[in-house]
Amino acid sequence: MTMRYWFGLTAGLIGLMTTNIAIASDMLDGKDIFESSCAVCHGMDGTVSDAGKRLEPFPARNLRAVAPMVDRDELRRIITYGIEGTAMRPKKYELDPLEIDAVIDYIQSFDYEPDLANGKMRFEAVCVSCHGKDGRAQTGVGAKNLVFSKLNLEGIIHTMRYGRAGTLMTSKRHQLSNKDIADIANYVYGLRYKADAAKGQRLYAKNCKSCHNTPSEIKIRGNAAINRTIADLDDHMLDLRIRHGRHIDRAGKKVAALSADDVQDIIAYTREDSH
Ligand code: HEC
Ligand code: HEC
Ligand code: HEC
Repeated sequence: MTMRYWFGLTAGLIGLMTTNIAIASDMLDGKDIFESSCAVCHGMDGTVSDAGKRLEPFPARNLRAVAPMVDRDELRRIITYGIEGTAMRPKKYELDPLEIDAVIDYIQSFDYEPDLANGKMRFEAVCVSCHGKDGRAQTGVGAKNLVFSKLNLEGIIHTMRYGRAGTLMTSKRHQLSNKDIADIANYVYGLRYKADAAKGQRLYAKNCKSCHNTPSEIKIRGNAAINRTIADLDDHMLDLRIRHGRHIDRAGKKVAALSADDVQDIIAYTREDSH
């Protein structure tokens, strides 16, 4: 009887606690917080209000296009501490950490349908001088080949927002709207070369097998060689070691004549084979 009493009491308490938690998170409705604390500048739907467009020195930004692609910790930092010198004031005085998290949940749930035609047009206006019209960066300024980039969509957006310190890749945050950033990033992501390992296997048989029976037999030379196999080299380093330098003397001019895409296919095959 006592057992049953204690069991009933404990179950009752747990029930009570879960109800309280449910009530607490219901109260923290991110949408409500957004509409009362953010919408005046960022717009009810997150695409910037008319007042937000007129702000100086910089207008409010479209959160619908970009917030779902921005790291949660970064959003928390921006919302908590604001952006100095802009109308984006620190929110830590009006919102507690749980409220800030609730509003982040809400802005990260926005959906945005990218406009790829706009992305292409803006890419051609702003990026091709360095990255080339095809994104392959054969322009001689040290820009990265976007077709072979390994960045995901979030990474592309991050690079556009912040740039790369000490390189020609500067932040595009005040040059481009968030809509343009999202559209360009999706367009750039769509340029990505999709390596074909099956084709790579055929190319390997034709061009490599006579000297390296299997990819796992290939040894790396030089300082990089210590305890490493080709699986430890990234695609770019591997490409350099296949199509350039001393390997051409050893393997013949045929390897130098392989296209960049062929080598991507071969690399995709070697990665499959070495696992
Ligand atoms: C008084 C106007 C105003 C209010 C209110 C406001 N913001 Fe902002 N917000 C801005 C401005 C202006 C910027 C752009 C600053 C810049 O260009 O560096 C901005 C930028 C941001 C950014 C960075 C966007 C990007 O693309 O880098 C985030 C995230 C953000 N706000 C979230 C919020 C949230 C969440 C709230 C409500 C809790 C809020 N803001 C309330 C004006 C406002
Ligand atoms: C003035 C030249 C220049 C312009 C214009 C430029 N970039 Fe870049 N970009 C670079 C350089 C240089 C790098 C390599 C930075 C490094 O060494 O990390 C780079 C790197 C990148 C990367 C990182 C790729 C990776 O795999 O690491 C992305 C993504 C990128 N740029 C996108 C863009 C987009 C999109 C635009 C147009 C909105 C643009 N860039 C405009 C010069 C430029
Ligand atoms: C005619 C012979 C020959 C052919 C064909 C050949 N290789 Fe090689 N390769 C060599 C020799 C010799 C080395 C030196 C290292 C060794 O002895 O394994 C080497 C080294 C390498 C290395 C390591 C390079 C470094 O810098 O450490 C890679 C990667 C490689 N080959 C890939 C390939 C691929 C991929 C192909 C086909 C596209 C290919 N090789 C075709 C002879 C050849």
